Formats: sequence, structure tokens, C-alpha cells
Amino acid sequence: MKIRVDPDRCQGHARCFGLAPELFEIDDYGLSTVVGDGRVPPELEERARLAIANCPEYAIDDCS
Ligand code: F3S
Repeated sequence: MKIRVDPDRCQGHARCFGLAPELFEIDDYGLSTVVGDGRVPPELEERARLAIANCPEYAIDDCS
């Protein structure tokens, strides 16, 4: 699984980081980016799906 954050959609709600801090970073403007190249280890896939489902802006995609 691989994820990405659409920078045009992200509004800085930070739910992604709250749910999966191993997978997301919040920058100085409060916006999210994926850690590394966005690849999700199998043990974190469920939390990646939770983050996708909980972003109010639908800014996170599974781009596997
Ligand atoms: Fe942005 Fe959604 Fe996370 S708006 S900070 S990607 S919860």
C-alpha cells in the first residue's frame, strides 16, 4: 500500500497525524505530508485506511 496527501485539498485538520503519526508529518503551516515515499508497512495499513476515511477534506489517497 502507498498513500499520498493532495496539498491542494489538505486544510490542516491533522486527524491523519493523530491516527497514524508514523505515516504523516505536519509542516510549519500545519499541513500534512506523507513520511518518506508514502509506502505503508503491512502492520500500519489499517491505520492508513482509518486516516483516509477520517480526513474531512478527502485529501489522502491510496495510490498503490
Ligand atoms: Fe490534511 Fe486531512 Fe490530515 S486535511 S492534515 S490530510 S486530516
